[in-house]
Amino acid sequence: MSHHRSSSHLWLLISMVVGGVSLGKCQVPFPGKCPEVKLLDTFDAEAYMGVWYEYSAYPFAFEIGKKCIYANYSLIDNSTVSVVNAAINRFTGQASNVTGKAKVLGPGQLAVAFFPGQPLTKANYLVLGTDYESYAVVYSCTSVTPLANLKIVWILTRQREPSAETVAVAKKILEDNDISQAFLSNTIQKKCPQLNGNDTELSAEDALDVDDFVTTVVPNAIEKA
Ligand SMILES: *[C@@H]1O[C@H](CO)[C@@H](O)[C@H](O)[C@H]1NC(C)=O
Ligand SMILES: *[C@@H]1O[C@H](CO)[C@@H](O)[C@H](O)[C@H]1NC(C)=O
Ligand SMILES: *[C@@H]1O[C@H](CO)[C@@H](O)[C@H](O)[C@H]1NC(C)=O
Ligand SMILES: *[C@@H]1O[C@H](CO)[C@@H](O)[C@H](O)[C@H]1NC(C)=O
Repeated sequence: MSHHRSSSHLWLLISMVVGGVSLGKCQVPFPGKCPEVKLLDTFDAEAYMGVWYEYSAYPFAFEIGKKCIYANYSLIDNSTVSVVNAAINRFTGQASNVTGKAKVLGPGQLAVAFFPGQPLTKANYLVLGTDYESYAVVYSCTSVTPLANLKIVWILTRQREPSAETVAVAKKILEDNDISQAFLSNTIQKKCPQLNGNDTELSAEDALDVDDFVTTVVPNAIEKA
């Protein structure tokens, strides 16, 4: 009986992800509990601070319909991090951001929260690999029942448009951890405002105002399922 209930729960989550793009309530559901991943032995929080551009990510609430996404991390004290996630609305051009706080709980293991009073006790942001200077691979997994988990994966890069080499190194880390790349969707980082205050970058091609998630990620994922 509980098996049946959990299965419907999983189905509900899948429908939310596939059908609920505009509901802004989605992470990618997978069967089973959160798998083990290889954690870092050492982590230099200070070196990790600063601006990271989102190169690619699984779809999740904050980012639907957004482009030019980046995060800015700064140390408040030796284990507390201020987090600012910023983006541009693809359709209106409106800039928005959310601010949060993180606690470093272990090497590459951070608890990030965006709501006041949200406890910072559970590592929901795992750095699986970074060289601090070009890429970071970040993973978040929540077991929602013993039969389902929700995952987010981010590939963050110091450059808005990283080299193919950098991307390959990051993807190798996902591969080594058996983490699916099927749901990764590249973030639009063209025609973005420059962060040092200057005007919009001019770039040859405009970004398509079609949701990549619907047009490419879902068909890719279904094809690979
Ligand atoms: C962090 O700061 C606290 C007090 O400010 C200190 O006790 C602790 O040793 C520091 N930890 C590290 C890793 O520097
Ligand atoms: C975040 O948004 C607020 C309010 O819209 C704005 O004043 C602030 O400059 C933004 N910060 C960043 C880093 O974009
Ligand atoms: C990132 O945060 C630091 C510390 O608050 C700030 O000095 C810097 O201007 C921020 N960078 C951007 C691009 O918002
Ligand atoms: C903004 O652009 C102008 C002209 O291209 C340049 O001279 C100036 O240094 C830039 N400012 C910043 C903060 O990058």
